Amino acid sequence: MELTIKDINEILAIENDIFSTPYSREIYHELLHNNPQIISLKIEKDEQLVGYALMHVLFEQANLLTIGIKRSYQHQGLGQQLLIDIMKEVVDLGVNTIFLEVRVSNIAAIKLYKKLGFIQNRLRENYYGIEDGIEMIWRKETI
Ligand SMILES: CC(C)(COP(=O)(O)OP(=O)(O)OC[C@H]1O[C@@H](n2cnc3c(N)ncnc32)[C@H](O)[C@@H]1OP(=O)(O)O)[C@@H](O)C(=O)NCCC(=O)NCCS
Repeated sequence: MELTIKDINEILAIENDIFSTPYSREIYHELLHNNPQIISLKIEKDEQLVGYALMHVLFEQANLLTIGIKRSYQHQGLGQQLLIDIMKEVVDLGVNTIFLEVRVSNIAAIKLYKKLGFIQNRLRENYYGIEDGIEMIWRKETI
């Protein structure tokens, strides 16, 4: 199911725990309030939000803005499931290329992205302040 502004409190509780530079309430409000270019997906377990992902879609290109799994629900395959599901959703909308940026130190996320077919496109020096970012790209196979 897609995220709505009613989910923002639960998102922020997870976000502030799992990200060193979390998105703010204002950012989420902007992303989730009548924004037709944003595709979002959430995972709920035990009647609570445990995971969320957002993509910005522009014609055939998408950008993975964020993906997060609540700490106590990590390492159970949910991140992978969520990413596959949101990728399928944007591909169904006509997307053939997906970009993302990730911290060089974020080994878990980089491993997940590589597993799903993303490859390193370029290094972005100091993208996260003092830390470098890796831009990764996924292309739909075209025959
Ligand atoms: C990255 C994240 C979304 C992965 O979600 P998850 O549900 O824990 O991951 P899964 O259980 O689905 O694991 C899928 C794959 O990710 C990789 N992975 C996940 N956690 C890992 C870890 N701690 N170390 C190494 N690889 C890891 C593995 O390739 C794994 O596949 P495998 O189990 O077959 O080896 C989650 O760790 C998270 O929310 N991290 C904090 C937020 C973040 O960094 N988001 C990404 C940047 S935008």
